[in-house]
Amino acid sequence: MATIAVATTKGGAGKTRTVYNLAGTFCADGYRVMVVDADPRKRAARNVRLFNKRMIDQKRDLPEIAVDDLSTVKTEAEVMRLISGYASDYDVVLIDLAGSANQLMLVAMGRADLVIIPVQSSADDIDGVTETMPSVESACGMTGRDIPVRLLFTRTQPGFQTKLSRKVRENLTAAGYEVFGPEFINRTVIHEQTWNGFMPTIEEPNGTAAENVRAIYNEVVKVLTGSQVGAGQKETTNV
Ligand SMILES: Nc1ncnc2c1ncn2[C@@H]1O[C@H](COP(=O)(O)OP(=O)(O)OP(=O)(O)O)[C@@H](O)[C@H]1O
Ligand SMILES: [Mg+2]
Repeated sequence: MATIAVATTKGGAGKTRTVYNLAGTFCADGYRVMVVDADPRKRAARNVRLFNKRMIDQKRDLPEIAVDDLSTVKTEAEVMRLISGYASDYDVVLIDLAGSANQLMLVAMGRADLVIIPVQSSADDIDGVTETMPSVESACGMTGRDIPVRLLFTRTQPGFQTKLSRKVRENLTAAGYEVFGPEFINRTVIHEQTWNGFMPTIEEPNGTAAENVRAIYNEVVKVLTGSQVGAGQKETTNV
């Protein structure tokens, strides 16, 4: 079991696409997945429901991705209890957060085994990182745990790295941040899945989009290996 919070105060950084594609890939590998949508706009929840319907329509033999959009939840304490329960009931819990620092972000981080901060190379995205870190630090302080944080470059250009994004990566690394090697490449199929729910790692597993998502997924799994993702569930995976 592992809980992953995807967070940044920067809107549009790629949180929901990251949650969605990781959720689909864990599902493809046979894990029981729960997506907690902590963004009041509930786009992750909508997309996961679309995914589940699409998989049924395609008659695929896959477990449904469970989803909770927290619409019935009133207090942060309740969210905390819910996430703890999901962490024991599911192999992987992915939490999609809103693009602002709030109490839910702190609650999610307090339960997380990994925090992923999606980032593009704009100054605004770097603000997103520096504004998000205090919540991680508070969560570490409150729980007495050292919660791993990884930055993930998103919407990068296929085929080459701009000078700016190289510089930003170097600066973030020099500042002590751990940045995933693979970047989430800007692709039409990823953008369009907001409409159609297409999941590359399931529906086109040998394609370039799937290869990209898998590369990120593998890095995520490496970080989580210590926290026993799906221990006892899957014997054939590299987790
Ligand atoms: N790798 C990608 N390729 C193509 N489009 C992408 C990619 N990543 C994100 N997008 C697009 O960028 C926009 C923002 O992405 P996303 O919704 O994942 O960001 P977010 O951080 O969740 O935003 P918000 O803060 O509004 O919740 C969306 O229109 C999405 O389709
Ligand atoms: Mg979002």
